[in-house]
Amino acid sequence: MKIREITQVALVTAMIIVLGLMPPIPLGFIPVPIVLQNLGIMLAAVVLGPKRGTLAVGLFLLLALIGFPVLSGGQAGPAVFVGPTGGYLIGWLLTPALVNSFLTISFMRHPWGRMVGGWLGAVLIVDVIGSIWLAISANTPMLTALASNLVFLPGDTLKIVLACLIAERVRVPKAKHI
Ligand code: BTN
Repeated sequence: MKIREITQVALVTAMIIVLGLMPPIPLGFIPVPIVLQNLGIMLAAVVLGPKRGTLAVGLFLLLALIGFPVLSGGQAGPAVFVGPTGGYLIGWLLTPALVNSFLTISFMRHPWGRMVGGWLGAVLIVDVIGSIWLAISANTPMLTALASNLVFLPGDTLKIVLACLIAERVRVPKAKHI
């Protein structure tokens, strides 16, 4: 991996951490807050692509796992990964690969198609994985968990649109060696 690529990964990891400084917005009816940090995950996916994006998100999650307070609200540690929001964290790790697998579908190479692919991978699937784990960890009926996640769709849709618009402007060349 070239120095330039390592720098790109480190910068995006830093950006995800900075977005986590925005305080989470708690919702009374579900133990999952609205956060801005997932915008950083979406940017990692659409700007860096599957390999460097996964590295950037993986590095961020590793820091969180070993105790650096980099998650929204200054959270950290293994307990968060098995708590109510653990499913979203796993979804975040998968986001760059998911989004980019949708983007291999030819229709999704068009700018609007990219937003659809981004939405499927970074919003819909992450919310579904998050809901499934939420239902298990909080002992909530699956349908209730899924329905309560509808609250995230408007904000997360805006975030993926923004991430795709930014990615159109910030063209980060594909890595050849990772
Ligand atoms: C954490 O910091 O422990 C993870 C928070 C996960 C929040 C999820 S990500 C998808 C959905 N959109 C939001 O704004 N919040 C939830």
